[in-house]
Amino acid sequence: MRLLSFEKMHLAAPFLLGLLHLTVAQVNDPLFWVYRLHPMAQLQADNTGGDCPAECDCPPTFPIAMYCESRGLKQMPYIPSRIKYVYLQHNQITSISESAFGNATNLVWVMLHENHISTVDKNAFAKLSKLDRLYLSGNNLTDVPGLLPLSLRDLRLNHNKIAKVQPGAFEGMDNLTILLLNNNQIQDIGGVFKDLRSLTLLDISNNQLKKVPEGLPSMLHQLYLGSNSINAIPDNFLNHFSNLQYVRFSHNELTDKGIPPNTFNVSGLIELDLSFNKLERIPPVSASLEHLYLQANQIKEFTLGSFCSIVDVMNFSKLRILRLEGNEISLHDIPSESAMCLRLASDIVL
Ligand SMILES: *[C@@H]1O[C@H](CO)[C@@H](O)[C@H](O)[C@H]1NC(C)=O
Ligand SMILES: *[C@@H]1O[C@H](CO)[C@@H](O)[C@H](O)[C@H]1NC(C)=O
Ligand SMILES: *[C@@H]1O[C@H](CO)[C@@H](O)[C@H](O)[C@H]1NC(C)=O
Ligand SMILES: *[C@@H]1O[C@H](CO)[C@@H](O)[C@H](O)[C@H]1NC(C)=O
Ligand SMILES: *[C@@H]1O[C@H](CO)[C@@H](O)[C@H](O)[C@H]1NC(C)=O
Repeated sequence: MRLLSFEKMHLAAPFLLGLLHLTVAQVNDPLFWVYRLHPMAQLQADNTGGDCPAECDCPPTFPIAMYCESRGLKQMPYIPSRIKYVYLQHNQITSISESAFGNATNLVWVMLHENHISTVDKNAFAKLSKLDRLYLSGNNLTDVPGLLPLSLRDLRLNHNKIAKVQPGAFEGMDNLTILLLNNNQIQDIGGVFKDLRSLTLLDISNNQLKKVPEGLPSMLHQLYLGSNSINAIPDNFLNHFSNLQYVRFSHNELTDKGIPPNTFNVSGLIELDLSFNKLERIPPVSASLEHLYLQANQIKEFTLGSFCSIVDVMNFSKLRILRLEGNEISLHDIPSESAMCLRLASDIVL
């Protein structure tokens, strides 16, 4: 049977999404697209590279996918070498040996989230030179697995027990676009992200960081650092990003002293979350900012100049959402000129 330009279909997926009202789960399931786009696909077994293990499903209509999710597996099943997409999430797998993937070097997606994995042989993933997505979220890992394929674009290691990240853990991953490390136990991460020239989403929230990681990649679009113990932001921190739009620092220990003047007065930023910190003043922000979260700080004064130039009221702020509840200000503290400056703000919460 002729298969299949799944990669091309997947690229088309976002455009079809709106028309078909699909769920994320459907879009993430290659088989869904086969049925959707090849309804007449022939039923024909394909045993290239070995039979499908009994505990899994390898649909004849889509012989390069193997479905083994939520089967109570305690060990990795055999994976035939033809397989590109393997679904192993929601099982009780505890370890991944050097030979776990055997000859399955065509793998493109490996879904291993929500298992009990605590040990991964350092060569386990080394031969998967086409691997694009590796999901290991919700396991029991204490380290980033060694020798991860440089081809990865989407690496999810969130909700583990990772405490240390080796300096070269992500070296050479030129195409890595999404990296999730949130909900781990990382205290210091050094400069491990510095070579990730394609990285657009980095989530390191819910760790134990005491400072902002060094050498963050300049292509970042979303940077999530909430729920750490960061008390200061380095000078000119936001100036070396060209695409950064979403920055979250909520639930840290930021004080006014820890934020250099004009840190957040940079163009391009759309959302800034500084809620649940120890700020006493509203830091100056760019007129282009749309969402500003400052709730649960110790702000005592409403400084309109943090949003607008007082001399040029025509140049009003683009702010739409401003959250200020849980501070030490009330409605009386907001000057009447604010109506001019914050004319787009439909949602000011005090
Ligand atoms: C891998 O492939 C080689 C050669 O094609 C074969 O000898 C070997 O038995 C295969 N190993 C597994 C685990 O299938
Ligand atoms: C996770 O690892 C710890 C030891 O580090 C062990 O005590 C615990 O049982 C493991 N949990 C799971 C769900 O495997
Ligand atoms: C990154 O992607 C490009 C284009 O798909 C590819 O040519 C290149 O080999 C990839 N880089 C790595 C390190 O895999
Ligand atoms: C409005 O202010 C921004 C900086 O906040 C500045 O870059 C821009 O040139 C100003 N526009 C006008 C029309 O004054
Ligand atoms: C932000 O910086 C621009 C110059 O780049 C300046 O005109 C503007 O007043 C500043 N905004 C605030 C709120 O300080």
